[in-house]
Amino acid sequence: AQQYRITLLPGDGIGPEIMAVSVDVLKVVGQQLNLEFDFQSALIGGAAIDATGEPLPQETLETCRNSDAVLLAAIGGYKWDTLPRHLRPETGLLGLRSGLELFANLRPAKILPQLVDASSLKREVVEGIDIMVVRELTGGVYFGQPKGIFATESGEKRGVNTMAYTESEIDRIAKVGFETAQKRGKKLCSVDKANVLDVSQLWRDRVTQLSAEYSDVELSHMYVDNAAMQLVRWPKQFDTILTSNLFGDILSDAAAMLTGSIGMLPSASLGASGPGVYEPVHGSAPDIAGQDKANPIAQVLSAAMMLRYGLNQPEAGDRIEQAVMQVLDQGYRTGDIMSEGNTLVGCRAMGDALIQALEKAQ
Ligand code: NAD
Ligand code: IPM
Ligand code: MN
Repeated sequence: AQQYRITLLPGDGIGPEIMAVSVDVLKVVGQQLNLEFDFQSALIGGAAIDATGEPLPQETLETCRNSDAVLLAAIGGYKWDTLPRHLRPETGLLGLRSGLELFANLRPAKILPQLVDASSLKREVVEGIDIMVVRELTGGVYFGQPKGIFATESGEKRGVNTMAYTESEIDRIAKVGFETAQKRGKKLCSVDKANVLDVSQLWRDRVTQLSAEYSDVELSHMYVDNAAMQLVRWPKQFDTILTSNLFGDILSDAAAMLTGSIGMLPSASLGASGPGVYEPVHGSAPDIAGQDKANPIAQVLSAAMMLRYGLNQPEAGDRIEQAVMQVLDQGYRTGDIMSEGNTLVGCRAMGDALIQALEKAQ
């Protein structure tokens, strides 16, 4: 059998619940296609803080580095929200992304036909949506220096973050944007705030310059405020969106809702080489954690992305995606995607339905 070392990072909140479902699903496709997964669980986020005092233990980073791919659920929760910045769960996640140099985050927002009525927008607005957000992930205002809360001369405090990109940081993510668009609808919309921000002007200049190498891709530019509006007004105008770290964070949550629920959206965080991290777009959903209410599909589809992009096992990825389509056809819905006439299920029952669908397809 083909063997793979997979690091599992269940994290906090609903993380362990949705991870358990994904591991069961992976085991079943693994058996079916003769893939052997060597799963190694490691600590991150609040769970790591509680066990070791830090959100990203060195051991976790090493385990991730030594694996073929990393499957991450989510981190964070009220319990850790008042800790100093360097001890916060989110700092652990940022450390993982920068530690593995995962500068490109691919966030596909594609509506499944079964969920058209689960979206808060009208059918004709969302039907057929297929957008890919290419988000820069290791730069921008998340990482720029200086940062911190400093005392001023007048004695008050001043909070500082710095939005910065070098040309090479822009170029490498722009290349991913152009290459992604080439494989899709050949339309790339670069989103920035060049009317106000110098960092965005440099971004726009570099992207425009690079576009000469991708003559088959139609490039457009849009300011981020307009992009937020256009995503809700007429999302079908977008094919591939290229944007910076913070803008991509915000726009991908908005794009998520076009597809019915953030509980449906997977992502892949990739570097130039080495293992990628596959993670849902949503967070640890502390409001529903521990209640068997979470939608595991974003996590399960992240596992499918891992098989497809990280392990070059597209057949296994296809099987998982088909199982998702099938349980939705059967009318199974978690609370976040529930609509009239369907069957409300919990996280675990959704997992059981996925496994049945996989076994039946065999
Ligand atoms: P969130 O995405 O966790 O939750 C937003 C809303 O969506 C909540 O009402 C939640 O119940 C719902 N939701 C999210 N995922 C769901 C799912 N799979 N099924 C059903 N409903 C789902 O965002 P938040 O509330 O702003 O953040 C909560 C915590 O998660 C914070 O600590 C935040 O920092 C963290 N967070 C982590 C990640 C990550 O690990 N990648 C991403 C975003 C937020
Ligand atoms: C995400 C999250 C993270 C981010 C947080 C938890 C650090 O919101 O993955 O979208 O802002 O990148
Ligand atoms: Mn986010």
